[in-house]
Amino acid sequence: MADSCGIFLLGFMFLVSFSVTGVSGAKFDEVIQASWASDHMIYDGELLKLKLDNFSGAGFASKSKYLYGKATAEIKLVEGDSAGTVTAFYMSSDGANHHEFDFEFLGNTTGEPYLVQTNMYVNGIGNREQRMDLWFDPTADFHAYSILWNPRQVVFLVDDTPIRVYANREARGIMFPRDQPMGVYSSIWNADDWATQGGRVKTDWSHAPFVATYRKVRIDGCEWGAGDEWTAEIKRCSGGEWGKEGRYWWKEKEMEALSVHQSHQLMWARAKHLVYDYCADTARFPVPPAECKV
Ligand SMILES: *[C@@H]1O[C@H](CO)[C@@H](O)[C@H](O)[C@H]1NC(C)=O
Ligand SMILES: *[C@@H]1O[C@H](CO)[C@@H](O)[C@H](O)[C@H]1NC(C)=O
Repeated sequence: MADSCGIFLLGFMFLVSFSVTGVSGAKFDEVIQASWASDHMIYDGELLKLKLDNFSGAGFASKSKYLYGKATAEIKLVEGDSAGTVTAFYMSSDGANHHEFDFEFLGNTTGEPYLVQTNMYVNGIGNREQRMDLWFDPTADFHAYSILWNPRQVVFLVDDTPIRVYANREARGIMFPRDQPMGVYSSIWNADDWATQGGRVKTDWSHAPFVATYRKVRIDGCEWGAGDEWTAEIKRCSGGEWGKEGRYWWKEKEMEALSVHQSHQLMWARAKHLVYDYCADTARFPVPPAECKV
């Protein structure tokens, strides 16, 4: 009896979400699609919601892959008790030697601050975590979280304030993420084994569902061609010229390094809000990673 009721309800929810999708989801549908648990990805008017409950989390992925560009999501994080949950917004390529640029928003008990963890994988190697708190309550309103990637730098930004930069130092023998098309992804899941206060605070399922809300997902990038002609595509997206129409703005000269103003913003954000940096973790890295020395 209980089982058949559950199946009926599930069928009903699919119907509702599909019919709503066609109308209000249009602006998201051009760019992204559900990648996991589409019944936990919900369109609500102009908004998109990813829901975590004790059955499932949820996620979406960009329809295209990009070689260089800027991806931004305007997100309002889980309100109230979000302990144990992680909401992620990231770019990633495929394969064992993949690159990945992560924003991971680590939830907390009601009234305690979210932490923003960033991480980078370059050619399959990660372990580059940094953590910050924020200068606003990310559950109270929408804020823009962006990743800028071009051949000279990877920049993580919060409301256009840079919070982390990984500059191209290949000249000093330091790996830089290049030449792999990356998708843009977001998801919410249960990570109560590590996310909140080192895993000491577990997810309280009586407060489910946990909902992350999206107002906008915007990707400006060099879209990877369907033919997958790697060499030609790499040349087209990363070459010195600024795209066929000169419109690859994320690669233009002024995007190759932070402006003076942005450098000041970065210093401010790190001085005031950085709570963990792998570069300073000598217990974990007795010999600091190469990119930390410069
Ligand atoms: C949660 O709140 C506690 C207490 O304020 C704080 O120490 C911790 O860094 C916060 N964030 C996470 C993700 O644990
Ligand atoms: C999910 O959580 C609800 C509320 O706490 C509970 O009633 C239900 O039994 C749980 N279901 C599963 C599959 O754990």
